[in-house]
Amino acid sequence: MTAHAALRQQAELDSLFDTHPEVSLDFGHVQRALEQGYTKPFLLVDPDIVRGKYRRFCAAMPRVRAHYAVKANPDLRVVQALVDEGSGFEIASPAELDLLVSQGVDPSHVHYSNPVKARQYIEYAASKGVEWFALDSADELRKIHAVAPRAKLYLRIDTPNIGSDWPLSGKFGVHLGEVDEILDAAAALGAQLCGVTFHVGSQCRNPQNWRVAIDRAKRIFQKMRLKGLKPEMLNIGGGFPVRLTKPIPSVEVISEVVNAAIADLDESIRVMAEPGRYLVSDSAYFVCRAIGTARRGGQRWVYLDTGMFGGLLESTQGLHYPLESDCGGRLVPWHIAGPTCDSVDVLLQDHLLPADLQDDDFIYIRNAGAYTTAYASEFNGFPLPDVRVI
Ligand SMILES: Cc1ncc(COP(=O)(O)O)c(C=O)c1O
Repeated sequence: MTAHAALRQQAELDSLFDTHPEVSLDFGHVQRALEQGYTKPFLLVDPDIVRGKYRRFCAAMPRVRAHYAVKANPDLRVVQALVDEGSGFEIASPAELDLLVSQGVDPSHVHYSNPVKARQYIEYAASKGVEWFALDSADELRKIHAVAPRAKLYLRIDTPNIGSDWPLSGKFGVHLGEVDEILDAAAALGAQLCGVTFHVGSQCRNPQNWRVAIDRAKRIFQKMRLKGLKPEMLNIGGGFPVRLTKPIPSVEVISEVVNAAIADLDESIRVMAEPGRYLVSDSAYFVCRAIGTARRGGQRWVYLDTGMFGGLLESTQGLHYPLESDCGGRLVPWHIAGPTCDSVDVLLQDHLLPADLQDDDFIYIRNAGAYTTAYASEFNGFPLPDVRVI
């Protein structure tokens, strides 16, 4: 079976689990883009698919306002498509804020969700008009309050990341037993701690993580009221998955859980989310090519002109993308590596690709619009991938 046929078969199997159709960039666009030549890896993006995903997200959860997580793909044309749709935004740094402001975004529609921020970054964002800041410790609460006493604050809580292909728990998120200390500090300072947020892990394939996290947020809202704080915002984070190599629940399936969980939330509480991957992944193909092959100890190796430093970092951490090629040979296991001299730059081991794969053959990576070009560096002197837009 060829790589193209194997992927088609997988898509048919996936649709048995969830019949909601997913739209990916049509491969014909990739073929036409290649007719214009190839000098280095590129991401080919269709902003119409981004727009469609935004509308679908809003339709599935009418009470939830989407704030695009810029980190997923900060390309200006992607951001502009979402500005045109009326999206809000989530940032991790002042550079992301500047990018949004350059596209005409009102900073009051931007949430600064990085839970630990440099003092001068908080100052800068507040001076530009950002109102909402995340935190997950009493130390960060005091820091933000000292710099921006009128800021509205939301508490990032720890929550299960079970079934998420890219877990995000551990580094951030206050544990439930330590919430009181932060609420007490806010009440004592007179700080406006009035929201709760969480992240269920990126590429989350388990809708129940949202139910558990929303339940925790509701309990914290109760505590806030008891301490004289006034809850007004629930931020259900990102994590909404896209079709890569494993079956996923569609956003409609997840929305049944989310909508039920927020149904009894007081109307005064505004609900928002921070989808990143969901909005941009399906809109793009990442195109790269093999630069060489080798056999070592009976093992086939293929080296690509991009790797973990060129935009495919997630592949090294267990988040696998569908890889396609034009070759028609039988599928055999390959070790797939990037072009740099660093031995960590190995993307996949024993991954099935056609036996006849050779240098100069293209590799096409479907649904790769998120966390690819955004991660790329020029390590070892290899060029950054292009972003081409349809
Ligand atoms: C605070 C925050 N919000 C939203 C996102 C976007 O997550 P995803 O791309 O899984 O939707 C991230 C991703 O790391 C994040 O850290």
